[in-house]
Amino acid sequence: MKALIIGNWKIYPKSAKEAKKVFDATKKAIESAKSVTLVVAPPTMYLRELIAGYRGKKVSFACQHVQSDPEGGAYTGDVSIVQAKDAGASYVIVGHSERRAQGETNAEVQKKVAALIAARLTPVVCVGESSRTTEGDYFGFVREQIRAAFALVPRDKVNKVIVAYEPVWAIGGETAMSPRDMHEMAIFIRKTIAEACGIDGLSVKIIYGGSVNENNAVAMLKEGDVVGLLPGHVSVDPVRFAALLKAVQAA
Ligand code: PGA
Repeated sequence: MKALIIGNWKIYPKSAKEAKKVFDATKKAIESAKSVTLVVAPPTMYLRELIAGYRGKKVSFACQHVQSDPEGGAYTGDVSIVQAKDAGASYVIVGHSERRAQGETNAEVQKKVAALIAARLTPVVCVGESSRTTEGDYFGFVREQIRAAFALVPRDKVNKVIVAYEPVWAIGGETAMSPRDMHEMAIFIRKTIAEACGIDGLSVKIIYGGSVNENNAVAMLKEGDVVGLLPGHVSVDPVRFAALLKAVQAA
């Protein structure tokens, strides 16, 4: 199976001109990485322009955030699901820890996931604890996030949701969690979805995010029991991102 790599640009780079440059480099890098399915999640301000200027088929696009009310309305500063779709996005990141830190709740994640499925967009639901204790109570925390996210998903659509496990403590640096710990968490996540939604839960795609880079990507894909990765800062660095794609391709 092809590795799914979703580059979360967050709100970088600073101008549309630079965004175009990063995207041009990304397009070039993906040409030789045939074993990768690439999704780019640029800032919403650049999304439509990048999509409109792209003639290829190798890159899909994600919106980093949408409002849970699908049709939009009086939500100053937000983006609606219909607008994300109209711009050409096919994936939407939901419940990223940076959005949760700004108040996005499990209840909102739940509404968004269901609305995205109904709109035929792919939700990429981010889950993950902010710190770990030896007692393992982070499992309970992740279980709550997962159960909420899947609660309104029709059973025959469970497989349309992608889960991105992103432990908050591993985001934004150079050290990812260990593939062995990811493997353990992947088993737990699958079991949790299956308990809540039935057997199809066992085949939900799980990806890992949190300091993914050109040096740790391959080990995570090989040993972490994940089908993909969600790199943040490295995805907006053309040289490092090209190196990451090359490493995954060569593995
Ligand atoms: P990072 O970000 O790769 O910079 O750690 C990942 C994310 O926040 O999605």
